[in-house]
Amino acid sequence: MIQIADILLAWYDKNGRHDLPWRQTRDSYRLWLAEIMLQQTQVESVKPYYQRFLNALPNWEALAAAPQDQVLALWSGLGYYARARNAQRAAQKIVADFAGEFPNTPESAESLPGVGRSTAAAVLASAFAQQRAILDANARRVLIRTQAIRSDPKASKTLQHLWKLAEVQTPADAHTYNQAIQDFGAMICVPRHPHCDACPLQRRCLAYAGGLSEQLPLPTRK
Ligand code: ADE
Repeated sequence: MIQIADILLAWYDKNGRHDLPWRQTRDSYRLWLAEIMLQQTQVESVKPYYQRFLNALPNWEALAAAPQDQVLALWSGLGYYARARNAQRAAQKIVADFAGEFPNTPESAESLPGVGRSTAAAVLASAFAQQRAILDANARRVLIRTQAIRSDPKASKTLQHLWKLAEVQTPADAHTYNQAIQDFGAMICVPRHPHCDACPLQRRCLAYAGGLSEQLPLPTRK
């Protein structure tokens, strides 16, 4: 039986955005910075900020030692400035507590300000080739649709279930798979009006089978 992961990997190989700047590196600093910037900002908006930031502050030591004004100026326009302040604190912690290397376990990575479970997993998978599942908005939406999950997407029970599914589905080459699910969520399984006619998972998608692609994920209850 062909797994969903195999289909996504084949789709990504052919259709993925292989030229994104953070896909040209296995350097933890560059990968981490991309994930932080991408947490609340779209790919196209991130690109110029990413290059400018790396030109000015190319490594952990440079970011740790920079004046906070410079960090905020480089971030200016991206929004969510808590991310910038946390990013600098994370760099300072890496220099002070982790000998200038991104820590290589989920627990230690998640001890860094601004680094949650999914961001930690993304960096560990890409920088250290670990088999780690991500669960950001794109990955969540793909899982909710393919499995036709009708519970509140942000409820803790649902999230527990989604993390389990994500872990089961993530193959050994998590680095490539994580990029694949990002692009698939951004290009095919998009939030509104998904492109089900062009979807390689159509025949395995329970939302599609039930005519629910446009309804799922359900709105979060608040
Ligand atoms: N969003 C979060 N992480 C991403 C990545 N690595 N590539 C594209 N979009 C992303």
